[in-house]
Amino acid sequence: RIVYLNGEYLPEEEAKISIFDRGFVMGDAVYEVTSVLGGKILEFEGHMNRLARSMAELEMTCDLTRDEWVEIHRELIKRNNIDEGMVYLQVSRGNAGDRDFHYPPEGTPPTVVLYTQAKENLADDPKAKVGIKVISLPDLRWHRRDIKTVQLLYPSMAKMAAEKAGKNDAWFVEDGFVTEGSSNNVYIVKGNKIITRQLSHDILHGITRASLLKYAAESQMEIEERPFTIEEAQSADEAFYTSASAFVMPVVEVDGEAIGTGKVGPVAARLREIYLDESL
Ligand code: PDD
Repeated sequence: RIVYLNGEYLPEEEAKISIFDRGFVMGDAVYEVTSVLGGKILEFEGHMNRLARSMAELEMTCDLTRDEWVEIHRELIKRNNIDEGMVYLQVSRGNAGDRDFHYPPEGTPPTVVLYTQAKENLADDPKAKVGIKVISLPDLRWHRRDIKTVQLLYPSMAKMAAEKAGKNDAWFVEDGFVTEGSSNNVYIVKGNKIITRQLSHDILHGITRASLLKYAAESQMEIEERPFTIEEAQSADEAFYTSASAFVMPVVEVDGEAIGTGKVGPVAARLREIYLDESL
């Protein structure tokens, strides 16, 4: 695989970064994941806007232009012959020299890494046909979840706990209400209404979420942006989640209780279809 590191395209074995890189030592890095379908990048503008916002919130700078970001994405997709898959992008605050909590001096170049991952059956995901099962866990993450940092240890622990319980994923709960999934935004459906938590520092502002809500409104669905509990999800008609890597994924069970019929519902199935149609 050919990857991108600080201006160069290299075989992955040759892409090396410093042991003093703040992304490595402090988790001081932000990232984006974009999907590729039919060789085409999905939601590029949205992901670039969020990257810029994450960096601004952390006072990180990087002098790559929008055109250069596009070029790197396209080049990697081409060189690695990606038809279906994703592009991972990470910007860290760079090499700080000795370990220090303080940021390195202004002008220290960031470390920019991008690579592709091919994935089969991304659009035609068999899981989307049966739905996934989740467990709930307390949300123990920090309180700036709107910034897409690489501090993913708790989400990793949550996915491992879900796997151990024989389920697919975890939903995080804070003060009695669901915040989001371990790596996705979550929704419940009641009749013609879609309920999802409103944007704040408590959740990541999903790029897929923004498009999904737009398409749902265009399909005459009602949208209510407010928090909901696990109990409300368990008595809803349907549930689903959205993310760049899974699009719209039906959720059919929470904490051992079936949601609705326990099968993929018509709203989630239709929204997945609409999302993929609009994206392709
Ligand atoms: N995860 N919430 C969290 C905590 C996430 O990590 C993600 C994305 C989302 C959905 O955002 P978007 O629709 O922009 O992908 C919500 C990515 C896919 C990941 O970490 O792999």
